[in-house]
Amino acid sequence: MIEVKHIKKGFGDKIVINDVSAVMDDGKCNLIIGASGSGKTVFMKCLVGLFRPDSGSILYDGEDFTNMDAAGKKEIRKKIGMLFQGSALFDSLTVEKNIQFPLDMFTNWTLAEKRKRVDEVLDRVELRDANKKFPAEISGGMKKRVGIARAIVLNPKYLFCDEPNSGLDPQTSLVIDKLIKELTQEFNITTVINTHDMNSVMEIGDKIIYMYKGDKEWEGNNKEIIFSKNQRLNEFIFASDFLRDAKDMRMLEQTGKIDNDRNMEDLIR
Ligand SMILES: Nc1ncnc2c1ncn2[C@@H]1O[C@H](COP(=O)(O)OP(=O)(O)OP(=O)(O)O)[C@@H](O)[C@H]1O
Ligand SMILES: [Mg+2]
Repeated sequence: MIEVKHIKKGFGDKIVINDVSAVMDDGKCNLIIGASGSGKTVFMKCLVGLFRPDSGSILYDGEDFTNMDAAGKKEIRKKIGMLFQGSALFDSLTVEKNIQFPLDMFTNWTLAEKRKRVDEVLDRVELRDANKKFPAEISGGMKKRVGIARAIVLNPKYLFCDEPNSGLDPQTSLVIDKLIKELTQEFNITTVINTHDMNSVMEIGDKIIYMYKGDKEWEGNNKEIIFSKNQRLNEFIFASDFLRDAKDMRMLEQTGKIDNDRNMEDLIR
Protein backbone atom coordinates (compact mmCIF):
# COMPACT_ATOMS: atom_id res chain seq x y z
CA MET A 1 0.00 0.00 0.00
CA ILE A 2 1.18 3.51 -0.81
CA GLU A 3 -0.19 6.43 1.18
CA VAL A 4 0.16 9.90 -0.27
CA LYS A 5 -0.34 12.68 2.25
CA HIS A 6 -0.87 16.31 1.25
CA ILE A 7 1.66 16.37 -1.59
CA LYS A 8 2.48 19.74 -3.12
CA LYS A 9 4.84 20.34 -6.03
CA GLY A 10 5.49 23.45 -8.09
CA PHE A 11 8.03 24.76 -10.56
CA GLY A 12 8.84 28.41 -9.93
CA ASP A 13 5.54 30.22 -9.33
CA LYS A 14 3.51 27.48 -10.98
CA ILE A 15 1.76 25.00 -8.68
CA VAL A 16 1.50 21.66 -10.47
CA ILE A 17 0.34 19.35 -7.65
CA ASN A 18 -1.84 21.05 -5.08
CA ASP A 19 -2.24 19.24 -1.76
CA VAL A 20 -3.12 15.77 -3.07
CA SER A 21 -3.75 12.85 -0.71
CA ALA A 22 -4.58 9.31 -1.82
CA VAL A 23 -4.19 5.65 -0.91
CA MET A 24 -3.00 3.12 -3.53
CA ASP A 25 -4.12 -0.40 -2.68
CA ASP A 26 -2.22 -3.72 -2.97
CA GLY A 27 -3.23 -6.08 -5.76
CA LYS A 28 -5.17 -3.30 -7.48
CA CYS A 29 -4.79 -1.10 -10.53
CA ASN A 30 -4.92 2.43 -9.14
CA LEU A 31 -5.52 4.79 -12.07
CA ILE A 32 -4.65 8.46 -12.25
CA ILE A 33 -6.68 10.12 -14.99
CA GLY A 34 -6.89 13.70 -16.17
CA ALA A 35 -6.35 15.96 -19.16
CA SER A 36 -2.93 16.55 -20.66
CA GLY A 37 -1.01 18.87 -18.34
CA SER A 38 -3.14 18.08 -15.27
CA GLY A 39 -0.05 16.84 -13.41
CA LYS A 40 -0.20 13.03 -13.73
CA THR A 41 3.43 12.51 -14.69
CA VAL A 42 4.72 15.01 -12.11
CA PHE A 43 2.59 13.27 -9.46
CA MET A 44 3.99 9.85 -10.44
CA LYS A 45 7.55 11.19 -10.45
CA CYS A 46 6.98 12.53 -6.91
CA LEU A 47 5.76 9.09 -5.84
CA VAL A 48 8.82 7.25 -7.16
CA GLY A 49 11.25 9.90 -5.92
CA LEU A 50 12.29 11.38 -9.28
CA PHE A 51 10.91 14.71 -8.02
CA ARG A 52 11.08 15.83 -4.42
CA PRO A 53 7.68 17.19 -3.32
CA ASP A 54 7.72 20.72 -1.85
CA SER A 55 5.71 19.40 1.09
CA GLY A 56 3.73 16.36 2.18
CA SER A 57 4.82 12.75 2.52
CA ILE A 58 4.67 9.40 0.73
CA LEU A 59 4.53 6.20 2.76
CA TYR A 60 5.44 2.82 1.26
CA ASP A 61 3.81 0.20 3.48
CA GLY A 62 3.99 2.61 6.40
CA GLU A 63 7.58 3.75 5.79
CA ASP A 64 8.07 7.44 5.11
CA PHE A 65 9.88 7.45 1.75
CA THR A 66 10.03 11.25 1.47
CA ASN A 67 12.22 11.70 4.53
CA MET A 68 14.40 8.59 4.19
CA ASP A 69 18.17 8.72 3.81
CA ALA A 70 19.75 7.64 0.50
CA ALA A 71 20.26 4.01 1.63
CA GLY A 72 16.61 3.68 2.70
CA LYS A 73 15.40 5.18 -0.58
CA LYS A 74 17.55 2.72 -2.53
CA GLU A 75 15.91 -0.18 -0.68
CA ILE A 76 12.44 1.08 -1.63
CA ARG A 77 13.56 1.78 -5.24
CA LYS A 78 14.60 -1.87 -5.58
CA LYS A 79 10.97 -2.78 -5.00
CA ILE A 80 9.68 -0.32 -7.63
CA GLY A 81 9.17 -1.16 -11.31
CA MET A 82 8.43 1.62 -13.75
CA LEU A 83 7.12 1.74 -17.29
CA PHE A 84 7.85 5.26 -18.54
CA GLN A 85 5.65 7.30 -20.86
CA GLY A 86 6.85 6.16 -24.32
CA SER A 87 8.52 2.95 -23.03
CA ALA A 88 11.99 4.64 -22.80
CA LEU A 89 13.96 1.60 -23.96
CA PHE A 90 17.68 1.99 -24.66
CA ASP A 91 17.87 2.08 -28.47
CA SER A 92 21.43 0.76 -28.59
CA LEU A 93 20.67 -2.29 -26.43
CA THR A 94 18.90 -5.46 -27.50
CA VAL A 95 15.60 -6.43 -25.91
CA GLU A 96 17.46 -8.88 -23.70
CA LYS A 97 20.01 -6.28 -22.54
CA ASN A 98 17.25 -3.74 -21.88
CA ILE A 99 15.49 -6.16 -19.56
CA GLN A 100 18.74 -7.27 -17.96
CA PHE A 101 19.66 -3.67 -17.08
CA PRO A 102 17.94 -3.53 -13.64
CA LEU A 103 19.50 -6.90 -12.77
CA ASP A 104 22.95 -5.47 -13.59
CA MET A 105 22.15 -2.45 -11.40
CA PHE A 106 20.70 -4.17 -8.37
CA THR A 107 21.88 -7.81 -8.23
CA ASN A 108 25.14 -9.78 -8.06
CA TRP A 109 23.71 -12.64 -10.07
CA THR A 110 25.77 -14.55 -12.62
CA LEU A 111 25.12 -13.94 -16.30
CA ALA A 112 23.41 -17.33 -16.56
CA GLU A 113 21.04 -16.44 -13.70
CA LYS A 114 20.25 -13.08 -15.27
CA ARG A 115 19.59 -14.64 -18.69
CA LYS A 116 17.26 -17.20 -17.09
CA ARG A 117 15.27 -14.44 -15.38
CA VAL A 118 15.14 -12.39 -18.61
CA ASP A 119 13.73 -15.43 -20.43
CA GLU A 120 11.15 -15.95 -17.68
CA VAL A 121 9.78 -12.41 -17.90
CA LEU A 122 9.89 -12.39 -21.71
CA ASP A 123 7.85 -15.57 -21.57
CA ARG A 124 5.43 -13.93 -19.11
CA VAL A 125 4.75 -11.01 -21.47
CA GLU A 126 4.47 -13.46 -24.40
CA LEU A 127 7.53 -12.24 -26.25
CA ARG A 128 9.66 -15.38 -26.60
CA ASP A 129 12.29 -15.19 -29.43
CA ALA A 130 12.66 -11.38 -29.27
CA ASN A 131 15.86 -11.47 -27.15
CA LYS A 132 18.32 -10.36 -29.80
CA LYS A 133 16.14 -7.76 -31.50
CA PHE A 134 16.73 -4.02 -31.14
CA PRO A 135 13.90 -1.65 -30.13
CA ALA A 136 13.80 -0.19 -33.68
CA GLU A 137 12.99 -3.67 -35.03
CA ILE A 138 9.84 -4.28 -32.97
CA SER A 139 6.31 -2.79 -32.97
CA GLY A 140 4.93 -0.26 -30.47
CA GLY A 141 2.93 -2.95 -28.66
CA MET A 142 6.02 -5.15 -28.42
CA LYS A 143 8.02 -2.22 -27.03
CA LYS A 144 5.43 -1.80 -24.29
CA ARG A 145 5.75 -5.49 -23.47
CA VAL A 146 9.52 -5.14 -23.25
CA GLY A 147 9.01 -2.09 -21.01
CA ILE A 148 6.68 -4.14 -18.79
CA ALA A 149 9.11 -7.07 -18.75
CA ARG A 150 11.89 -4.71 -17.64
CA ALA A 151 9.60 -3.16 -15.01
CA ILE A 152 8.76 -6.57 -13.47
CA VAL A 153 12.18 -8.24 -13.79
CA LEU A 154 13.07 -7.54 -10.15
CA ASN A 155 9.69 -8.81 -8.88
CA PRO A 156 8.49 -5.36 -7.84
CA LYS A 157 6.10 -4.78 -4.99
CA TYR A 158 5.09 -1.49 -6.58
CA LEU A 159 4.56 -0.96 -10.29
CA PHE A 160 4.21 2.44 -11.98
CA CYS A 161 3.01 2.75 -15.58
CA ASP A 162 2.89 6.16 -17.21
CA GLU A 163 0.50 6.02 -20.17
CA PRO A 164 1.02 2.32 -20.96
CA ASN A 165 -1.34 2.58 -23.95
CA SER A 166 -0.16 5.74 -25.66
CA GLY A 167 0.22 5.17 -29.38
CA LEU A 168 -1.43 1.73 -29.39
CA ASP A 169 -4.61 0.66 -31.17
CA PRO A 170 -7.64 -0.15 -28.94
CA GLN A 171 -7.22 -3.92 -29.14
CA THR A 172 -3.50 -3.95 -28.40
CA SER A 173 -4.20 -1.48 -25.58
CA LEU A 174 -6.65 -3.93 -24.08
CA VAL A 175 -4.10 -6.76 -24.24
CA ILE A 176 -1.52 -4.56 -22.45
CA ASP A 177 -4.12 -3.49 -19.84
CA LYS A 178 -5.09 -7.09 -19.16
CA LEU A 179 -1.44 -8.10 -18.85
CA ILE A 180 -0.82 -5.35 -16.28
CA LYS A 181 -3.94 -6.33 -14.36
CA GLU A 182 -3.01 -10.03 -14.36
CA LEU A 183 0.50 -9.29 -13.08
CA THR A 184 -0.93 -6.96 -10.43
CA GLN A 185 -3.25 -9.67 -9.12
CA GLU A 186 -0.83 -12.57 -9.57
CA PHE A 187 1.93 -10.93 -7.50
CA ASN A 188 -0.28 -8.66 -5.33
CA ILE A 189 1.53 -5.58 -6.67
CA THR A 190 0.46 -2.03 -5.81
CA THR A 191 0.08 -0.72 -9.35
CA VAL A 192 -0.31 2.95 -10.25
CA ILE A 193 -1.23 3.80 -13.84
CA ASN A 194 -1.46 7.20 -15.51
CA THR A 195 -3.87 7.21 -18.41
CA HIS A 196 -6.40 9.13 -20.42
CA ASP A 197 -7.62 6.00 -22.16
CA MET A 198 -11.29 5.48 -21.29
CA ASN A 199 -11.16 1.81 -22.30
CA SER A 200 -8.51 1.28 -19.61
CA VAL A 201 -10.58 3.17 -17.09
CA MET A 202 -13.56 0.91 -17.64
CA GLU A 203 -11.53 -2.31 -18.00
CA ILE A 204 -9.05 -2.14 -15.14
CA GLY A 205 -10.05 0.87 -13.00
CA ASP A 206 -10.20 -0.72 -9.53
CA LYS A 207 -9.54 2.72 -8.12
CA ILE A 208 -9.62 5.90 -10.16
CA ILE A 209 -8.29 9.30 -9.14
CA TYR A 210 -9.27 12.18 -11.37
CA MET A 211 -6.83 15.11 -11.45
CA TYR A 212 -7.88 18.54 -12.58
CA LYS A 213 -5.17 21.22 -12.82
CA GLY A 214 -3.15 19.66 -10.01
CA ASP A 215 -6.09 19.02 -7.66
CA LYS A 216 -7.62 15.66 -6.87
CA GLU A 217 -11.12 16.38 -8.14
CA TRP A 218 -12.80 12.97 -7.78
CA GLU A 219 -12.09 9.43 -6.61
CA GLY A 220 -14.04 6.21 -7.20
CA ASN A 221 -14.06 3.00 -9.24
CA ASN A 222 -15.08 1.99 -12.76
CA LYS A 223 -18.66 1.29 -11.68
CA GLU A 224 -19.12 4.62 -9.92
CA ILE A 225 -17.56 6.75 -12.65
CA ILE A 226 -20.51 6.22 -15.00
CA PHE A 227 -22.89 7.70 -12.46
CA SER A 228 -20.67 10.47 -11.15
CA LYS A 229 -22.32 13.86 -10.95
CA ASN A 230 -19.00 15.70 -10.95
CA GLN A 231 -19.36 18.08 -13.88
CA ARG A 232 -15.64 18.41 -14.69
CA LEU A 233 -15.18 14.65 -14.61
CA ASN A 234 -18.18 14.15 -16.86
CA GLU A 235 -16.91 16.72 -19.34
CA PHE A 236 -13.58 14.89 -19.36
CA ILE A 237 -14.79 11.31 -19.74
CA PHE A 238 -17.85 11.99 -21.86
CA ALA A 239 -16.04 14.39 -24.14
CA SER A 240 -18.35 13.99 -27.15
CA ASP A 241 -22.04 14.97 -27.32
CA PHE A 242 -22.83 11.42 -28.37
CA LEU A 243 -21.28 9.92 -25.24
CA ARG A 244 -22.93 12.53 -23.03
CA ASP A 245 -26.32 11.64 -24.51
CA ALA A 246 -25.55 7.94 -24.04
CA LYS A 247 -24.69 8.57 -20.39
CA ASP A 248 -27.97 10.47 -19.86
CA MET A 249 -29.84 7.57 -21.43
CA ARG A 250 -28.05 5.12 -19.15
CA MET A 251 -28.99 7.18 -16.10
CA LEU A 252 -32.63 7.33 -17.17
CA GLU A 253 -32.61 3.61 -17.93
CA GLN A 254 -31.21 2.87 -14.46
CA THR A 255 -33.95 4.88 -12.83
CA GLY A 256 -36.52 3.07 -14.98
CA LYS A 257 -37.60 6.24 -16.76
CA ILE A 258 -36.95 5.06 -20.31
CA ASP A 259 -37.07 1.97 -22.49
CA ASN A 260 -33.35 1.76 -23.25
CA ASP A 261 -33.29 -0.11 -26.56
CA ARG A 262 -35.81 2.17 -28.26
CA ASN A 263 -34.08 5.36 -27.07
CA MET A 264 -30.61 4.12 -27.98
CA GLU A 265 -31.91 3.55 -31.51
CA ASP A 266 -33.18 7.15 -31.58
CA LEU A 267 -29.82 8.38 -30.37
CA ILE A 268 -27.88 6.50 -33.05
CA ARG A 269 -30.23 7.75 -35.75
N1 LIG B 1 10.48 19.74 -15.06
C1 LIG B 1 9.48 20.62 -15.17
N2 LIG B 1 9.71 21.95 -15.04
C2 LIG B 1 8.71 22.84 -15.15
N3 LIG B 1 7.42 22.53 -15.37
C3 LIG B 1 7.13 21.23 -15.51
C4 LIG B 1 8.13 20.21 -15.42
N4 LIG B 1 7.54 19.00 -15.59
C5 LIG B 1 6.23 19.26 -15.79
N5 LIG B 1 5.98 20.59 -15.73
C6 LIG B 1 4.65 21.22 -15.90
O1 LIG B 1 3.76 20.56 -15.03
C7 LIG B 1 2.46 20.47 -15.61
C8 LIG B 1 1.96 19.06 -15.53
O2 LIG B 1 2.73 18.25 -16.39
P1 LIG B 1 2.59 16.67 -16.47
O3 LIG B 1 3.66 16.20 -17.37
O4 LIG B 1 2.55 16.12 -15.11
O5 LIG B 1 1.16 16.51 -17.15
P2 LIG B 1 0.40 15.17 -17.52
O6 LIG B 1 -0.90 15.19 -16.81
O7 LIG B 1 1.28 14.01 -17.30
O8 LIG B 1 0.13 15.40 -19.08
P3 LIG B 1 0.12 14.32 -20.32
O9 LIG B 1 -1.22 13.65 -20.27
O10 LIG B 1 0.27 15.19 -21.52
O11 LIG B 1 1.26 13.36 -20.12
C9 LIG B 1 2.59 21.01 -17.04
O12 LIG B 1 2.10 22.32 -17.08
C10 LIG B 1 4.08 20.99 -17.28
O13 LIG B 1 4.46 22.00 -18.15
MG1 LIG C 1 2.18 12.58 -18.59
